[in-house]
Amino acid sequence: MCGIVGAIAQRNIVPILIEGLSRLEYRGYDSAGIAVLNQQIERVRAVGRVAELERKAQGLSSFIGIGHTRWATHGGVTEQNAHPHVSPTQDNPQIAVVHNGIIENHDEQRDRLTALGYAFHSQTDTEVIAHLVHYYYQQTRDLLQAVKLTISELTGAYAISVIALENPTQMVVARLGCPLLIGLGDGENFVASDVSAVLSATRRVIYLEDGDVASLTSAGVVIYDKTLQVVERKEHLSDVSLASLELGPYNHFMQKEIHEQPRAISDTIEALIDDGAFRTELFGVEAADIFSQIDSVLILAAGTSYYAGLTAKYWLESIARIPTSVEIASEYRYRESVPNPKQLIVTISQSGETLDTMEALKHAQKLGHTHSLAICNVQESAIPRASSLVFYTRAGAEIGVASTKAFTTQLIALFVLAVTLAKERGLLSPAQELAYLSDLRQVTGSVQIALNLEPQIREWAKQFGDKEHALFLGRGVHFPIAMEGALKLKEISYIHAEAYPAGELKHGPLALVDSNMPVVVIAPNDVLLEKVKSNMQEVKARGGQLFVFADADSHFNASEGVHVIRTPRHVGVLSPILHVIPVQLLAYHAALLKGTDVDKPRNLAKSVTVE
Ligand code: G6P
Repeated sequence: MCGIVGAIAQRNIVPILIEGLSRLEYRGYDSAGIAVLNQQIERVRAVGRVAELERKAQGLSSFIGIGHTRWATHGGVTEQNAHPHVSPTQDNPQIAVVHNGIIENHDEQRDRLTALGYAFHSQTDTEVIAHLVHYYYQQTRDLLQAVKLTISELTGAYAISVIALENPTQMVVARLGCPLLIGLGDGENFVASDVSAVLSATRRVIYLEDGDVASLTSAGVVIYDKTLQVVERKEHLSDVSLASLELGPYNHFMQKEIHEQPRAISDTIEALIDDGAFRTELFGVEAADIFSQIDSVLILAAGTSYYAGLTAKYWLESIARIPTSVEIASEYRYRESVPNPKQLIVTISQSGETLDTMEALKHAQKLGHTHSLAICNVQESAIPRASSLVFYTRAGAEIGVASTKAFTTQLIALFVLAVTLAKERGLLSPAQELAYLSDLRQVTGSVQIALNLEPQIREWAKQFGDKEHALFLGRGVHFPIAMEGALKLKEISYIHAEAYPAGELKHGPLALVDSNMPVVVIAPNDVLLEKVKSNMQEVKARGGQLFVFADADSHFNASEGVHVIRTPRHVGVLSPILHVIPVQLLAYHAALLKGTDVDKPRNLAKSVTVE
C-alpha cells in the first residue's frame, strides 16, 4: 500500500528519497512522486515504477523533501492523483503533503474549502489536507500550528509529512492509525512509513504513537503527543538487515523467501532451543498471569495469516485442550459477537499493520476483552503495541507480496503457543515436552529436504501453466494447508484455485472434476490418510489428474492419472509446516510459466492498511 519517505539534511536528499521509495516498492503501489524545496516547491510525479520517477527527477537537488508511493483508493491511477499534493495552486505551490490512510470527512472538507476559494486538481482525499494546512498557515505563519489545526479537523486515518515554501528548514509530520517513524541521523533526520525506507541512511528510529505530531529540522526532532505536550519517545536500533531487502542470487523475492525458510524457522525457535524448555515468558512478562486466567482462544487475522490461525486451532484443541475459534478479522469487527473476557484474543499479522486485524483487535478490546497476544514479524508495529502479549517471529523482512516464510514462522509460533498453554494447564508430561522440542529441532532439516524437491515440482508446474482452474484437497490439520496452496496459486499465477476438505468433494466440487482440472492433494500419513485415499479414488474414477504431496510414511505409488511427490520424512504433528513448502514451490513455478509479476501480483499489496 502507500508509502512515505522524507528527509531534511545538509546534503542533497533526492537520492535518499528515490532509494527510500524503491525500498517501499514491495508494499505495492501504482504511482510515485516527490516534492523538494528550493526557491520554489518542485514536484515530480510518475505513474508506474519508481525507476520512471527517478528518470524524471534527474538533475533535481535539495536539502529537504518528501516522497510517496501510492496505491489508489480515492481516484484512479493517474499522475494528477499521485502524491505529493500541493496548495494553494498547482502553479504556485506553497505547501506540499504526502499522506497514507483515508480521510473519511474529505467530502465535507472539500465543500468547505471550495467555498473558501480552493480549487481541486485530483480526486484524492489527500488534497484537502494540503489546502487545510495552507489555510491555517495563512493565519498562523507557523507550519507546526497549521498542521495541528488541520489534523484536529480530520476524521479517519493518516500518516502525513508536510513541507512549506516559507520554511525551508522544517518538516512537520503526524500520525493517527497509520505507521510513521522518524529516522535519526547525524545532522540530518528522516521520516518513513516503513523502516526499510531509511535503513541506508540510519538504523536509529523512533516509532511515533497515535496522535503524535513532530517537527523535524536537520539538527533535531521535537515530538508532541495527542494532548500537544512535548513528549520523549524511545529510540530503537533497527535490526532489519539490508541483505534481507536485496535479491542476492535469486530471481524473485518470493523464491528467496521460500528458500530462507530453514533459517527463518531456526531463528524463530532459537530462544526456545537455547532454554531447552517451553517457557511462558517467551510471550511476555505477564503471560503466566494471563494464561492462567483464560478459558478459550479467539484468533483474528487476514489472508495467509488467517490460514495459520486455522492450522493452529487443531494444535490448540488437541495439545492444549483449549476451545479455539478462528475468524477473519474484517468479518469479526462488524459482527455482533458474544464477548468472553476470559478468552485470549490472538492476532496474527506478518506486518503488524493490517487495518482489518488492528480494528478487529480494537473491537474486541471495546467489547471487554483484556487479554491479547500478537504474533507478528515486524518489531514495534501497531498490532503488537496494542496487545498485552507478543511473540515476534524472526522471519526477517518479507518483501514478496505472497507470504511464505512469515507463514511457516507463524505456524512455529502457534505450535509453541499450543505446547506452552498445555504446559501451563498441567497437560504436558516432561517426556512429551522433550519430544515436542525434538520435533521442533528436526523441522528445519525436514523443510530443507522438502525444498530439495523443487526440480520435481518444477516439472509438475508445467501441467498447471495452461490450466484455468485447480482444486486443492486436504483433511484435518492439512485442510488449511490446502487452502494456503490454493491462495498462493491464485494470487501469483492468476489460476483460479479452490480448496476443499477432501470429505466434502462429493457434496459439490466433484461435479467440476474432469481431465482439465488438476487436483492437488495434501496426503501425509495421519489418521485421515485412508479417508483421503478413498476421496482420491472418487477423483480418479472421473478422469481427474491427481497431484499428491505425500510423506515418507504415506505409501503411495504413482499410477495412471496419479502423480506422487513424497517428502523423505514424516514429521508427525508439525507436518503442516513441511507440506506447505511444496505448494509454495508449485505456485511459484506455475506463475513463472504464466509470466506474471511474481513479487507484485496485479491489484494486490503487501501491507493492507485500508479497509
Ligand atoms: C495481504 C498480503 C498477504 C497477507 C495479508 C495479511 O493480503 O498480500 O500476503 O497474508 O495481507 O497480512 P498480515 O501482514 O496481517 O499478515
